[in-house]
Amino acid sequence: MAMGASTVASDAEVRWSSRLAFVLAATGSAVGLGNIWKFPYVTGAYGGSAFVLVYLLCVAGIGLPLLISEVMLGRLGRGSPVHSIGAVARAAGRSGAWSAVGKLGVVAVLMILTFYSVVGGWTLAYIYFAADARFQAAAGASEGTAAAIGALFSGLLADPWALLLWHSLFMLLTVVIVARGVHGGLERATKVLMPGLFLLLLGLVVYAAVTTDRFAETVSYLFKPEWGNLSATAVLVAMGQAFFSLSLGMAIMLAYGSYLPERFNIGRMALTVAGLDTLVALLAGLAIFPLVFAHGLEPGAGPGLVFISLPIAFADMPAGVLVGGLFFLFVFIAAMTSSISMLEPAVEYLVAERGWRRHRAAWLVAGLVWLVGLGPLLSLNLWSEFKVAGKNLFDLLDFVTANLMLPLGGFLIAVFVGWRLSQPMLREALGMSEAAFRAWHLAIRFVTPVGVAAILAYGLT
Ligand code: PHE
Repeated sequence: MAMGASTVASDAEVRWSSRLAFVLAATGSAVGLGNIWKFPYVTGAYGGSAFVLVYLLCVAGIGLPLLISEVMLGRLGRGSPVHSIGAVARAAGRSGAWSAVGKLGVVAVLMILTFYSVVGGWTLAYIYFAADARFQAAAGASEGTAAAIGALFSGLLADPWALLLWHSLFMLLTVVIVARGVHGGLERATKVLMPGLFLLLLGLVVYAAVTTDRFAETVSYLFKPEWGNLSATAVLVAMGQAFFSLSLGMAIMLAYGSYLPERFNIGRMALTVAGLDTLVALLAGLAIFPLVFAHGLEPGAGPGLVFISLPIAFADMPAGVLVGGLFFLFVFIAAMTSSISMLEPAVEYLVAERGWRRHRAAWLVAGLVWLVGLGPLLSLNLWSEFKVAGKNLFDLLDFVTANLMLPLGGFLIAVFVGWRLSQPMLREALGMSEAAFRAWHLAIRFVTPVGVAAILAYGLT
């Protein structure tokens, strides 16, 4: 059901070719640096299990209902995120001003991309380091492997020119793909990536468990409920992490939903995407923390956690050059499938609603993101003294987008879908079983908006 006279992007070619293709692309967006880089380091920084449990609760109670809602709105509205929300609102007799929520999402996601690309650049640098046997070289260093590998990471961050090179390369690769349209490459890349990344992570979990003897400690660190050390900020960050990791925030899942054919069951697909995303994050944690404990690293060390702990393992495992190179290659591809999805909504908006040519839109937006990305990039070295509320630009952007903007957008979407759209309309749009529909509707009306509002209020006071 396409809505509104100005419906765009409704020709058959821009639909996903199969259910698998959509699940792959949505999972490709969801699984990325958020799972492998950010999840372990925020978990370590906020104390482990209590944080993880709040995160899991947020994924189930807030993330999943919103994921379903966003994909549904995209499919109903059949256009850019901004268009879709406006079209659905008008069709339901509500104010077209709701489309402003889509704009918030598009902007938030571009802001994320500015620092995401910097971190994506680190993965490129690390493919190079792995292939150049830098980790193995560190193993022979007089100060010890862990210290030498830590120095490799801090050396990278301290070098603005190296960061600039990798950040530029990362953005360039992203824009080349987006400029050519979402299909083809994206689907193919994800098809190879997902099983590959999954198997490699599983292998690393086994390796870390066998070689370090710290697996039991890790499981209890990650899952044993101990609420004592849970701060209000930790709860806020855990919710933000759920939004970040599932790519929720009004733009991406809406844009991808707009390519979704009528007959696919949104509920089941959302469950698959959320399940895979969570699984990858937990696997990353299970692979990393045994190494962190065994090598005396600090769990709360911050953004370098993955880039330090795993290379220590690569340094002394057999075929470490190959395994390390492959690992960072997979992480890089996972980051690319996410960064592509971040650029796409803005490009879709400019093409569909402003009549721009795709190439021009993609290059212009990407150029702007690249330029703004120099801020977080330089905040890691030359501008590290410049802080707002105790945070450098990099951390500030991360905090404001993931923990404030995405939840705010999610809250508004929940209110819109739960309280402004009629039940018969939603029931028809989703085509779920009655029991599943009821559970979802209850969540999107109450659990999600109240949960987000409560956590925002609690975390910010
Ligand atoms: N979900 C992606 C990841 O985990 C990042 C992302 C955040 C993508 C927000 C889109 C929007 O890496």
